[in-house]
Amino acid sequence: MRKLIVCLLALVVGLFLGTAAYSLDKGPEVIVLKAKKGNVTFHHREHQDKLKIKCGECHHGKTADWKQVPYKEGMKIHECKECHNKEMPNKKLNKVSKAMHKNCKGCHKKMHKKYPKAPVKCKQCHVKKK
Ligand code: HEC
Ligand code: HEC
Ligand code: HEC
Ligand code: HEC
Repeated sequence: MRKLIVCLLALVVGLFLGTAAYSLDKGPEVIVLKAKKGNVTFHHREHQDKLKIKCGECHHGKTADWKQVPYKEGMKIHECKECHNKEMPNKKLNKVSKAMHKNCKGCHKKMHKKYPKAPVKCKQCHVKKK
């Protein structure tokens, strides 16, 4: 009986350590994206968990010759500005605002029928402090 308990304990501890080792850095819960036009309050966790949007819809990597590398679980996540800056050869994406507008507004437009609250107008995202 005692042996069985020790075995079970070992199993529980093992499982716990296992999940801890694989626990993913999901980043901040809410991210305030600063813009002169008015800051954008982005509910990161809500997009991940409640809306069940995959990390790879927004995060990816790149090759040395500026091709996109699809997101893979556990891969290092960089801020958009590390790549979407004036060094990027693709002029349609060489600013953070261009990358974000394409990503964020792009999806909101696609999902607007099902989710009328997904913002597509400037002032729904860019909120100026009063
Ligand atoms: C709807 C888009 C979206 C989804 C889905 C998403 N993220 Fe993010 N995430 C962002 C944005 C935008 C930032 C801020 C990037 C910046 O500041 O340039 C960010 C930032 C992060 C950061 C902090 C990076 C840093 O260096 O500051 C981590 C870590 C992160 N995300 C992990 C994840 C993981 C893991 C998932 C999936 C479970 C995920 N994200 C899903 C949009 C998203
Ligand atoms: C490690 C570098 C890197 C980071 C970090 C990065 N990108 Fe990209 N992204 C690229 C490259 C390279 C391409 C491909 C450009 C091309 O097709 O010419 C790309 C393409 C895109 C595209 C157009 C293709 C598509 O998937 O729709 C969007 C939108 C985009 N990125 C948004 C973002 C956003 C938003 C972030 C931050 C959350 C981000 N990217 C972070 C390198 C990066
Ligand atoms: C793959 C789809 C997708 C992407 C990419 C996406 N969103 Fe959303 N977003 C949604 C949906 C769907 C809703 C509506 C949620 C609801 O009805 O509760 C939403 C709602 C919102 C809202 C209003 C509700 C809230 O959470 O405050 C804001 C603001 C927002 N998104 C900002 C952003 C920003 C900024 C980005 C890019 C960094 C982004 N979203 C990327 C799908 C997306
Ligand atoms: C879905 C949300 C969303 C909508 C809708 C949206 N934006 Fe943005 N916008 C952003 C995000 C996110 C950034 C990037 C902030 C950053 O650099 O981190 C941004 C950046 C910008 C910037 C550059 C940064 C600055 O300092 O102002 C301008 C200009 C801008 N947006 C104008 C507009 C205009 C004009 C519209 C309407 C036609 C619009 N945006 C609609 C989310 C949005």
